[in-house]
Amino acid sequence: MEGNEGPVIAVIAERAEGETRVAAIPETVKKLTKLGARLRVESGAGVKASVSDAEYADAGAEVGDRAATLNGADWVLAVQAPEVLNLGGAKAGAKVAAIFDPFREKAKVEAYAAAGFEAMAMEFMPRITRAQSMDVLSSQSNLAGYKAVLVAANLYGRAFPMMMTAAGTITAAKAFVMGVGVAGLQAIATARRLGAQVSATDVRSATKEQIQSLGAKPIFVESVAGIEGEGSGGYATEMSEEYQKAQAELVSSHIAKQDIVITTALIPGRPAPRLISDTQIATMRAGSVIFDLAVAQGGNVEGSVPDQVVEKHGVKIVGYSNTPAHLPADASALLARNFFNFLSAFWDGEKNEVVLDEEIGDAIRLTQGGKVVNERLLG
Ligand code: NAI
Repeated sequence: MEGNEGPVIAVIAERAEGETRVAAIPETVKKLTKLGARLRVESGAGVKASVSDAEYADAGAEVGDRAATLNGADWVLAVQAPEVLNLGGAKAGAKVAAIFDPFREKAKVEAYAAAGFEAMAMEFMPRITRAQSMDVLSSQSNLAGYKAVLVAANLYGRAFPMMMTAAGTITAAKAFVMGVGVAGLQAIATARRLGAQVSATDVRSATKEQIQSLGAKPIFVESVAGIEGEGSGGYATEMSEEYQKAQAELVSSHIAKQDIVITTALIPGRPAPRLISDTQIATMRAGSVIFDLAVAQGGNVEGSVPDQVVEKHGVKIVGYSNTPAHLPADASALLARNFFNFLSAFWDGEKNEVVLDEEIGDAIRLTQGGKVVNERLLG
């Protein structure tokens, strides 16, 4: 019987420096193939995430070089959106689903439009219940929050838990988490598991209870009336000057007593808010460690530099430009499932192709028919 031939889905190797992740794992290759797709994986795509070509082939993918992988592809899956010139051979109008960083990569988005590709920014996935399993920001932030605490613990010259030994008592480290979204919640949980005394702050008052439920202490600005801090889609908004001043005072008095600080604060489409100044760092005890998870978005911490450990006033300040890439296997597995959940949710069995609905399609589609079409980029 001649059925509709399923779409060719190409999974290509990442070219960006420091990128270790891959957009599919054998499990998702198998599942997509079962749906009716024809999977192709570029040779070596999974190596840094501990997946061999043979494992992809066993799962049902055709493994080949980049040209063979892309040849006639209907869909391209990638972690970081490839440069258009690296997409040669994909079908005219092919759909490319990846992390696009659209606000900062405007030229790249324009190039996708000009080339006639349909760019799908996975990080624009709406924050609605049915899209949670497709949300790459959540899946990756969770791992980033965990890793940040481990890295900070490694750089810290003291222990996290309280220890009573024959040679004397070691006091528990004090850890402070600033920004309690997905990454912050995991940072709190991880620091608690390691035995630190944890406190945390956010501009969204809804996080207070979440902080408490993880056994940490909420530190909140109470002096400025009418604070909610929650903008659209559950994200934070930029705060008033009055609030920022009150927050700085609160942080100054609290931070001087902290050993470990993890900052995670982000505002979509804006540079990361500055939360810690050099003057505040100078009040911390020598040997303390700050991990700035927002370093790639401009940084929450004065003086943080991507992928470097900077020492200021005896305090180590660290931040990775791509924290999830430091957990390649798990980060890839979660991303790959995000992609699978996305494609399978919209799989039309009769047509044997992916048919997006408006709510999600319009939210993530950046380019179509030669034009930039996303509302968030046009405004
Ligand atoms: P994010 O990565 O955009 O920001 C991290 C945290 O920093 C947020 O909690 C934010 O409120 C906070 N922040 C921003 N400016 C700050 C400042 N000046 N001072 C202190 N904190 C500041 O946020 P993330 O992790 O993406 O989560 C945002 C919200 O979205 C959460 O409520 C989360 O539960 C919700 N969410 C919903 C999903 C769904 O329903 N599909 C999926 C994922 C998250």
